[in-house]
Amino acid sequence: MSRKILQIQNLTKDFPSKKTTVHALSDVSFDVYEGETIGIVGESGCGKTTLGRCIVKAVTATDGHVIYTNKEGKDFDFLNVNRKTMKTLRKEIQMIFQNPYSSLDPRMTVFDIIKEPIIANYPKLSYDKVEEMVIDIASKVGLNVTYLKRYPHAFSGGQRQRIGIARALVLKPEVIVCDEAVSALDVSIQSQVINLLKDLQRDMNLTYLFISHDLSVVEYISDRVGVMYLGKMVEFAPTTKLFEQVRHPYTEALLSAVPIADPDIVMERIQLQGEIPNPANPPTGCYFHTRCHYCQEKCKVEVPVLQMVSEEHYVACHFVKELKLKSILDYTQAENVKG
Ligand SMILES: Nc1ncnc2c1ncn2[C@@H]1O[C@H](COP(=O)(O)OP(=O)(O)OP(=O)(O)O)[C@@H](O)[C@H]1O
Ligand code: SF4
Ligand SMILES: [Mg+2]
Repeated sequence: MSRKILQIQNLTKDFPSKKTTVHALSDVSFDVYEGETIGIVGESGCGKTTLGRCIVKAVTATDGHVIYTNKEGKDFDFLNVNRKTMKTLRKEIQMIFQNPYSSLDPRMTVFDIIKEPIIANYPKLSYDKVEEMVIDIASKVGLNVTYLKRYPHAFSGGQRQRIGIARALVLKPEVIVCDEAVSALDVSIQSQVINLLKDLQRDMNLTYLFISHDLSVVEYISDRVGVMYLGKMVEFAPTTKLFEQVRHPYTEALLSAVPIADPDIVMERIQLQGEIPNPANPPTGCYFHTRCHYCQEKCKVEVPVLQMVSEEHYVACHFVKELKLKSILDYTQAENVKG
């Protein structure tokens, strides 16, 4: 059994302002095992980036725990460690950001961009050693090492994302949070970068938290998937189970909008009613009740908790036992295929 590398427990993040408080993340819990890829999906504003930023401690969570277990089996709670310990732990957990255009400093050469984390963590390392580390990781991510003294503007979007990946990997971390890491790229470049991430995962034994609003990409890359709605985890399951035996009405609606490669299959798209509610003023009961096709009176008053419905499959819905939801499998069956 592989190591439980991260335990996210009741993670909560509020952003208070003078007038109101945005509840960006509410009581999110799941475990991450060494070497796996967890996909995190959900509409814009549901808290995906906040979850990633709380995990790498780019922002401090309001409540909860992020427990990292190192190779020696020692546990560290990111929310309770001192600055010095956090500095060493940070090397193990890195984040790759969405926009390869704005996340790289245009005044620094690519060599200096990749070098920066090494200097910050090992200021006394010899120049030769630093150069060796930069060249090693640059070639691993498929960058032409003779171009490293150039500036980011001389590189294409896909190459810039490779620079961001090299920078995140140069200290050989264990966990990478990829926040919409391929969303800004053309589809053909997207698949190159996704395959690169998969190869690096195998070669460097990396663990990924892969945040994306693109369910097709998440299905392709993830071992398990978490679906978020308004700061909460509403469904969490192994990828195949989630796509073939969907159990939460919100996931059902999201999946119904995923394009299917087979033109003979006609999916019935579930149109979500209304707007996403304001996370500063979430609905009572089940947060999804204002848009759910299956809503009943109980949903408006009682909060459903995330519970196990079958092996490794967790759902937060009062009527999970009664509902018969449609998944991709139902549409691929003969009677649903045209002609
Ligand atoms: N620094 C901040 N201050 C105040 N509110 C914030 C801050 N960061 C995020 N939020 C709010 O928290 C909620 C969750 O935002 P977050 O960026 O995590 O969503 P997301 O799922 O990543 O969305 P997207 O798909 O658009 O990237 C949103 O309502 C957002 O406006
Ligand atoms: S608890 Fe009710 S409103 Fe919420 S997802 Fe389930 S059926 Fe829909
Ligand atoms: Mg985001």
